[in-house]
Amino acid sequence: MRTRARGRRTRATTSWHGRSEPTGGSGSGDSTRSGSQKLYPLGYAASTKRDPRRGTWSVRYLLDGAIQRIEKGEIEVKGRGLHGEAVLSEKGRGKVIPKTMWHRGRHAAGATWGTNLLTALLGDASAFSYPKSVYAVRDTLSAAIGDRPDALIMDFFAGSGTTLHATLLLNASDEGRRRCILVTNNELNYQVAARLNRHGHFRGDPEFEAHGVFQASTRPRVTAAITGLRPDGQPAEGAYLDGREFAEGFPENVEFFTLDYLDPIAVEMGLHFRELHPLLWLAAGGVGDREDIDPAARFALPAGSPYGVLFNPSGMPGIQAALKDRLDVTHVFIVADSEASFADLASAFLPPVKTVCLYREYLETLRGARE
Ligand SMILES: C[S@@+](CC[C@H](N)C(=O)[O-])C[C@H]1O[C@@H](n2cnc3c(N)ncnc32)[C@H](O)[C@@H]1O
Repeated sequence: MRTRARGRRTRATTSWHGRSEPTGGSGSGDSTRSGSQKLYPLGYAASTKRDPRRGTWSVRYLLDGAIQRIEKGEIEVKGRGLHGEAVLSEKGRGKVIPKTMWHRGRHAAGATWGTNLLTALLGDASAFSYPKSVYAVRDTLSAAIGDRPDALIMDFFAGSGTTLHATLLLNASDEGRRRCILVTNNELNYQVAARLNRHGHFRGDPEFEAHGVFQASTRPRVTAAITGLRPDGQPAEGAYLDGREFAEGFPENVEFFTLDYLDPIAVEMGLHFRELHPLLWLAAGGVGDREDIDPAARFALPAGSPYGVLFNPSGMPGIQAALKDRLDVTHVFIVADSEASFADLASAFLPPVKTVCLYREYLETLRGARE
């Protein structure tokens, strides 16, 4: 799938289209009747999901224009996706400069791909007013980092979480592995806050906080987009422009963290490793399931993630021996009580492994950010 922001040269867009077909006895979409039998082996059509309730299959297919552009070599087939569909890459993607004004219907905020999408995912229209269209954000991301499948995308004012949702769509279009970090507070709409105050609920009360933007919107929207399930457990109804059903969700995972204050002295004494561990995992790329690490150990080298932690200099022989079989490791976090001791320990690790001093470097980064 590839849809592009309008560039200086307008080009035909390549996108998947979708329809539901009744299930025949054959166990796959009835492609003979639709005349698309020959498209399946090429990956130009794919059956994605059976809906036993309606007795239908979702079928996604490319339009003739897109197939002609593949045949002309303007679009490259890079491989096959989960359902056998061709993974497409438009040559020169990311090289077109988008125009300042966009006026496509799919980009309108507060409409089908803003408010209606959010309502389909949350089952509630009032959670967030005037969300951006997920396609406006996806096409913005595509213009900026369409050619970088490993990009890290950050949105410090996440609101309803449109940016993460757009990242999912972009990844789905080219098998990308882009990651997205959202940050938001849990602020409430002024009138809602005033009404809750009148009923005796104030900031900090669960009844009050439940109406904040994170709890009522960001978290449930992101969860529903990925799982395909609304907060009430029902499958979200509807389909994206490429025919993918909302209920299909996406293969990405997501984790929610609370940003909080810790006592710097307790941090320096190593008493908050478990609270800091997610940051170390993120700094090393957020790869793999985060294993529980015991800070009383001499060292740790989680099997599924590319980092290690040296808690005690006595763990040096152990971590060095274990690293021989771990060429994937990019970061080693070293707990040291002085710069000299850190420099000494760090010199045992060779580039490209990056060494980071705990907990001083972490604290200094935060102090620097505050000043
Ligand atoms: C305009 S909305 C973003 C809308 C979002 N792009 C969308 O379409 O879904 C801005 C969000 O930033 C959040 N926000 C405002 N001040 C903040 C702060 N200091 N830290 C974190 N988030 C903040 C607000 O709660 C609000 O939801």
